[in-house]
Amino acid sequence: MTEPELYPVPSEWSQRARMTKAGYEAARAAARETPESFWAEQARRLDWFEAPTTIRDVSFHKADFRIRWFDDGVLNVAWNCLDRHLAKRGDQTAIIWEGDDPDQSGKLSYRELHREVCRMANVLKGLGVGKGDRVTLYLPMIPAAAVAMLACARIGAIHSVVFGGFSPESLCGRIEDCGSKVVVTADEGLRGGRPVPLKANVDAALAKGAGAVVEKVLVVSHTNADVPMVEGRDVRYGEAKHGVSDDCPCEPMKAEDPLFILYTSGSTGKPKGVLHTTGGYLFWAAWTHELVFDYRPGEVFWCTADVGWVTGHSYCVYGPLANGATTLMFEGVPNWPDHSRFWRVVDKHKVEIFYTAPTALRALMREGDGPVKATDRSSLRLLGTVGEPINPEAWRWYYEVVGEGRCPIVDTWWQTETGGILVSPLPGATDLKPGSATRPLPGVELQIVDADGALLDGPAEGNLCITDSWPGQMRTVWGDPQRFFDTYFSTYPGKYFTGDGCRRDADGYYWITGRVDDVINVSGHRMGTAEVESALVLHEAVAEAAVVGFPHDIKGQGIWAYVTLKAGIEPSDALRRDLVAHVRAEIGPIAAPDVIQWAPGLPKTRSGKIMRRILRKIAEGETGALGDVSTLADPGVVEELVRGAQR
Ligand code: WTA
Repeated sequence: MTEPELYPVPSEWSQRARMTKAGYEAARAAARETPESFWAEQARRLDWFEAPTTIRDVSFHKADFRIRWFDDGVLNVAWNCLDRHLAKRGDQTAIIWEGDDPDQSGKLSYRELHREVCRMANVLKGLGVGKGDRVTLYLPMIPAAAVAMLACARIGAIHSVVFGGFSPESLCGRIEDCGSKVVVTADEGLRGGRPVPLKANVDAALAKGAGAVVEKVLVVSHTNADVPMVEGRDVRYGEAKHGVSDDCPCEPMKAEDPLFILYTSGSTGKPKGVLHTTGGYLFWAAWTHELVFDYRPGEVFWCTADVGWVTGHSYCVYGPLANGATTLMFEGVPNWPDHSRFWRVVDKHKVEIFYTAPTALRALMREGDGPVKATDRSSLRLLGTVGEPINPEAWRWYYEVVGEGRCPIVDTWWQTETGGILVSPLPGATDLKPGSATRPLPGVELQIVDADGALLDGPAEGNLCITDSWPGQMRTVWGDPQRFFDTYFSTYPGKYFTGDGCRRDADGYYWITGRVDDVINVSGHRMGTAEVESALVLHEAVAEAAVVGFPHDIKGQGIWAYVTLKAGIEPSDALRRDLVAHVRAEIGPIAAPDVIQWAPGLPKTRSGKIMRRILRKIAEGETGALGDVSTLADPGVVEELVRGAQR
């Protein structure tokens, strides 16, 4: 393999960046050698009602398992994101909103945002929401989404944001799992010019069972669509907010009090409710936002993720607002009304820092340089990516065409579970290699182990583990602490296992190779193969299904479903379309299979276990390297599948 090219830190960055090479090495050493004082010092960036005196109390071992940070500290997230900024930057823009419709945009200053959040908090209180109660948010990318998150934080309620692209079925499961008594939604969302029927989906979710736990539905009007309201249950926010005060005190929260739940896919069927807490999470979101993006006061920061994902939580809302930044929320999509949209928005709002997913870049790259070059982009000074490995070709296009060779790229690796970025270049400290997330942030201790857990030193490839805690780490799976321990800490005892494969090169740079469990990454969105399988077998025609990922030019990974039909049912294109529609309805459009292959049988061991390794190889087109099939109950099915896969 040829050595990848190196992009050294530009001299203007090494001189003026927040963290230089020497600063990085010093911080890494300090975090390792004197973690207590290092984190105590760093945590002063937050405004504490009572400063913490106990800093970390952590064990990844079964006997005394615990993860606690800043334990006796008391603070409030909304205070840190709003109130403390009012004196100095009350009139500064906190949120720039750019609508799906290019003619719609708006701004909220810190003072206005503070007022909105207080109002929403008082409305929620009026609906009976108090400290510790769960509130599900099912909203479009409009300021009300950030307002609702912060309103919950202000009164100590725990929000659970559900991505607006999830189906009523998925929404129902998430509401029931955490027992939300209030749902906040909008009449409709808009994406690429098309309405998304959010309120109707909530109605459907409540009819499917979530109605048993939900007492009130708060409806924000966005498109002003005429949506039916259920008497006694549904409340129009636009009306309710006029009846409340715009003063609402912040609930004092302990550092380890829950801040939010966010559902994410794992290798087993049901998505898990990742729980993040107040002090550690907010600290990590804020610290990494400033460090990785080298954020400077007054700059416009744009993270294109939806608040339905963790990236939207940490880098559209909490990190930037805790730092008093101007954050841009974008409701639309990159390819509507045309393929210049991202760059037009950059020009319109003079965006300095731009953070997006490789899948969006690959899709735009396919359209050629024209739509980029039609725009100015001179405001940009730093670019970032997140969500999946970026292929060097897309990296170079981003660097050369979008950034005109002027902007470093931070390829940030992290997970819903990690709360914020863990592995990333720091633009003033790290020489870049296209396709590598480079090196861990200070305080992040990585290890690569082999399948048996043996530690691999030096250049190596294996499974990525983290050996010590960091403040932004998730604390538990909502309602299922055992699942938390089993999922992350039992594979390699004493270590957090990420689920990712990884290579470390001779320079100590990390290259994420993708998931090694049954999670696939479709367009930067996590999807459990088991979830898609469960949805497929709910269809009356399906006897059995096995789902794997396969390499996809734009999406990174696509979804390949092997489907065995019930006896007597004939495969057809109509049935194929019906199955895809069924999965979309069960989970959401992001879970729609790209390929459905009819499988007369699935390769199983004699004990009945499906051999996914073989199915993956067939989907990848690597049929020459199927490996050992001698343990199969019926090796004949493999030949049949290989023949069927020829596209
Ligand atoms: C993948 C998104 C390579 C990885 C923040 C991880 C990445 C999963 C990168 C988490 C990156 C995220 N390079 N792979 N820069 N960033 N991933 O929970 O497989 O939606 O485990 O969090 O995305 O996805 P999640």
